Amino acid sequence: MNIRIEKTTCPKAKPVDESQLGFGKVFTDHMFIMEYDTGMGWHDARVVPYQEISLSPAAMVFHYGQEIFEGMKAYRTPDGEIQFFRPEENFKRLNQSAERLVIPELPVEDALEALHALVEVDKDWVPHNDGASLYIRPFIIAVDPFLGVRPGDKYLFMIILSPSGAYYSTGLNPVDIYVETNYVRAVKGGMGYTKTGGNYAASLAGQDEAHKQNYSQVLWLDGVERKYIEEVGAMNIMFVIDGEVVTPELQGSILPGITRKSVLELCRKWGMKVSERRITIQEISDAYDAGKLQEVFGTGTAAVISPVGHLKWGDKVMEINGNKIGEISQKLYDTMTGMQYGRLPDDMGWIVKL
Ligand code: PLP
Ligand code: COI
Repeated sequence: MNIRIEKTTCPKAKPVDESQLGFGKVFTDHMFIMEYDTGMGWHDARVVPYQEISLSPAAMVFHYGQEIFEGMKAYRTPDGEIQFFRPEENFKRLNQSAERLVIPELPVEDALEALHALVEVDKDWVPHNDGASLYIRPFIIAVDPFLGVRPGDKYLFMIILSPSGAYYSTGLNPVDIYVETNYVRAVKGGMGYTKTGGNYAASLAGQDEAHKQNYSQVLWLDGVERKYIEEVGAMNIMFVIDGEVVTPELQGSILPGITRKSVLELCRKWGMKVSERRITIQEISDAYDAGKLQEVFGTGTAAVISPVGHLKWGDKVMEINGNKIGEISQKLYDTMTGMQYGRLPDDMGWIVKL
């Protein structure tokens, strides 16, 4: 792929205090952009100064939500090198989302080339602080000016970069989660397994309700029987029950998280008992009552490993592990971030250097 590079003539000041970055609020000097037209394929790949884009008010993405995205990170190692965590997995998943939303495929090699080209130009923006990283947001939108409902013929693929800290303001401190029993996020056969804006739009009312009750996130139940556990707003969920790591199986309505997959691979490598299966919220409540629910944690790129401190289901509030991070969550956090930030050797073949 031929990528044209146009550097900014007025670079922005970089954040001085990296501990105050927050998540997704600051953007770097450059972005990647490439167009697609039916008949031509992907064309005009370029890294350009970060700027606003101009679209017709009739652009299809605004009306019918034909949009997909990814979320990944670049990390700075102690000796100043920059590295990615399983980036090809994100671009494979982008293509799974593309297929479901009838968006043209983007070759994984081209997407990786775009990623490397952009991060190379903005590499000084990768934070140095422990716990901070460069959050990477690749996305594709349909931009034809047309009000009929059909797949687009014109698309933009873009990548923007945001130096970020922890996703939750609580950091590694446990988050409080509310089990949503009224709204649902996705159903099997729908788009739950894709990363598309509509899934997140569908989650906002539940999240709003959770916030009103002082909970930071929603745990979704299945859309049919409202009893099987699915996932959290921006992460997959895992339970440690009587020494076994249990997580909902992938069956079309939840996102196949790359952190989820990596955590399961690590637990299996460590010889732990792991199962991917259907789990009812009643089973979790019963395990809690029997004193067998040892840990609950979420997994995600933005959230890393997030211990859950309280889980509210109806009138019942379960306090998990005394509202403290558990042993397994801590070990997974240390191992994952150790590899990601290059403090531990990568014996899984997951790290890709810039
Ligand atoms: N589930 C949802 C709804 C998400 O938005 C995310 C974040 O990307 C995840 C799960 C975790 O996926 P991953 O580990 O690939 O970041
Ligand atoms: C991620 O973990 O990368 C996410 O995309 C979560 C989110 C901010 C939607």
